[in-house]
Amino acid sequence: MTATDFGAMRIAPSILSADFGDLGASIGLVSSQVEWLHVDVMDGHFVPNITIGPPVVKSLRKHSDLFFDCHLMISEPWRYLEDFKKAGADSCTFHVEVGRTGETIQLARDLGLRVGLSLNPDKSFDLVEPYLDQIDVLLVMSVFPGFGGQSFIPDVLDTVRKAREAVDSRGLNLDIEIDGGIDINTLPLAIAAGANVFVAGNAIFGQANPAESLRELQSALVAA
Ligand code: DX5
Ligand code: ZN
Repeated sequence: MTATDFGAMRIAPSILSADFGDLGASIGLVSSQVEWLHVDVMDGHFVPNITIGPPVVKSLRKHSDLFFDCHLMISEPWRYLEDFKKAGADSCTFHVEVGRTGETIQLARDLGLRVGLSLNPDKSFDLVEPYLDQIDVLLVMSVFPGFGGQSFIPDVLDTVRKAREAVDSRGLNLDIEIDGGIDINTLPLAIAAGANVFVAGNAIFGQANPAESLRELQSALVAA
């Protein structure tokens, strides 16, 4: 919901590690400190886990006016984009691995969504490069998607560096987001490589004091 500028340095807390029985309260713990909330959608097909769908996004929307950054780890995103938009999604990011990329970008654009494209850690930057001027967010996965709390894969920093070089040299309006294993130790690596949106699940909602853990990450952003 919140209007957002491109390129701002920000932490996007992922609710994947929050208490699914009390999501409204979990979001309330961090909502005064952030603009974006990362919502992980999994279908048990593209990834080996199932999480939430449009009905939950719709319910969350009643509790929050944060920018909902919906990460669709699903095989057929084109079937659900309209449902997510109606539920209150601000941005939908889908994976290049599922195909039909150009037409799905256009569909999301026509629906008035911010459009994100993601790639898994073992995929080449060349797969997403042709779409950079058509999207709003490039989401670089730094773990294989499906579960929170995994270890950061440093090889993906090369993809982030290539993306930053392309964005800067071509003057693109594009957020470079990194997702998976971001914590106080890996955040500086991702910053140095050129990302500007940092998803963190376990490092916030998996901690005893999510608000304090978020503040520590944000301090590292400011110090960078
Ligand atoms: C992984 C999800 C991530 C996940 C990150 O499949 O896409 O957004 O929540 O969680 P952490 O920060 O715990 O690696
Ligand atoms: Zn995610």
